[in-house]
Amino acid sequence: MGTSPSFLLVAIDGGAASGKSSTARALAARFPLLHVDTGAHYRAITAEMLRKGVTPGDLSGVESALAGLRLGTRVTGSAAQMEIGGRIQGDEIRAPDVNAAVSHFAALPAVRTALLHYQRGQVEVAKSHGFKGLVMEGRDIGSVIFPAADLRFFLHADPVERARRRAQEGQLDSVAERDRLDSSRKTAPLTCPPGAIDIDSTHLTLDQVVDRVATLVAVRLNPVPPAP
Ligand code: DC
Repeated sequence: MGTSPSFLLVAIDGGAASGKSSTARALAARFPLLHVDTGAHYRAITAEMLRKGVTPGDLSGVESALAGLRLGTRVTGSAAQMEIGGRIQGDEIRAPDVNAAVSHFAALPAVRTALLHYQRGQVEVAKSHGFKGLVMEGRDIGSVIFPAADLRFFLHADPVERARRRAQEGQLDSVAERDRLDSSRKTAPLTCPPGAIDIDSTHLTLDQVVDRVATLVAVRLNPVPPAP
């Protein structure tokens, strides 16, 4: 029962390789919702900083580099991708040097503030492309970016299982170390916000996780009308 919101906001947070990207992508395709991967935003900014030779310890260098970035969004199917200066970054955002540096740049308030405004602006992007809602995934979506989202999920999985998933994807990525840095930073740490729906994906297949999330999304999008 209940009314359908005019625009549905779904937040999915979780650690590295917790399954949130695959879940968010599958969910977006099923309904359709606009899929926004905020980890890719932090990765793209990191790749850009590395290209410019800016280190996370050089705060004024980071701030002036951020001020010069022209951020845009390209929508392809149900996926939104961040453009920097009109350009989409490709596989370089998953490179080992980006994996190693991204948590350090993501801990900087200046980087987080720039992305907070950009990420909140994705609602307008979704509406202007005719989507009924958006699913945004990251670390602080349900806690900071959209604390009043219609549905907030937090995915977690055993660290051994997460390392296995990354290795299976052929990626060199220390998920436990990134999670340690992401959880211990002062600004917008990785945490399960109060009231979020906590899902342990360790022993679930991707389809099982997607089904759980999709069931709740479907109820919100198509609420059962009250009995006559
Ligand atoms: O989801 P991912 O592994 O691609 O994210 C890369 C990094 O970006 C992650 O180590 C922490 C950071 N991140 C963040 O701080 N906040 C978000 N909302 C999303 C990602």
